[in-house]
Amino acid sequence: MRVVVIGASGRTGRLVVGKLLEEKHAVVGTIRNSRHMADLVKAGAEAVLIDLDKTGFDEIVFAMKDADAVVFAAGSAAGETSELDRKGTLRTVRAAEKAGATRYLSISSIGASTGLSTRTMSDEMKDYYKQKRAAAKHITGSTLDWTILEPGELIDEAGTGTVTLSEEAIEETFVTRADVAAVVVALLPEKKAIGHAYQLTRGKTPIKTAVKKVLK
Ligand SMILES: NC(=O)c1ccc[n+]([C@@H]2O[C@H](COP(=O)([O-])OP(=O)(O)OC[C@H]3O[C@@H](n4cnc5c(N)ncnc54)[C@H](OP(=O)(O)O)[C@@H]3O)[C@@H](O)[C@H]2O)c1
Repeated sequence: MRVVVIGASGRTGRLVVGKLLEEKHAVVGTIRNSRHMADLVKAGAEAVLIDLDKTGFDEIVFAMKDADAVVFAAGSAAGETSELDRKGTLRTVRAAEKAGATRYLSISSIGASTGLSTRTMSDEMKDYYKQKRAAAKHITGSTLDWTILEPGELIDEAGTGTVTLSEEAIEETFVTRADVAAVVVALLPEKKAIGHAYQLTRGKTPIKTAVKKVLK
């Protein structure tokens, strides 16, 4: 597959790029700061400069030309507004539709699709969930072959190779970014994952088995 990874310099995005390359996919990584370009190219990906707040729509469409799939791994940093999570999703969904990149996998957050209450959360987290839920509406209302992955808190430890993956709500806990990247790459080619949102945390099931189980 030729896959465009949005947010390829992010902590999860760069692991998704690495895993895709490992599995012999062709990768276009989008970055908003040119200082990440050399690393991405050295890893074996193509790099395109896209700032989702500023880059013109046609340029985003052009970056997705001939792509089979788009992975949305971008996200607002601490201290930045979560508006990017919705607006960036909308712009990349529309661009993917126009470019004919039909497969779209987005990383959201645990409980976004299973009705997790935000009542006791901080205002920042309330807004984050509001934006992620609005983003999901753009995705599920699109013509794309979408999948949404909703991980728990992300940590930077080494991947464990085992997870909990479920369409139902699960206990909120953390998961490594490396395991998230592995699940993204495992779900991407799966037709049966189209039209589904999955919860993901650390767990005891090997990733291959966990993916097989949710696709049944
Ligand atoms: N953090 C958590 O615990 C957690 C939990 C569940 C889900 N998630 C979700 O998982 C995904 C990955 O999270 P992460 O913590 O690994 O991400 P991250 O390291 O914060 O990286 C986010 C990426 O988004 C890019 N980005 C931000 N604003 C942008 C813009 N306007 N235009 C283009 N790119 C932009 C950043 O670019 P720069 O490198 O230039 O800054 C960076 O590459 C996000 O969607 C996040 O919401 C996170």
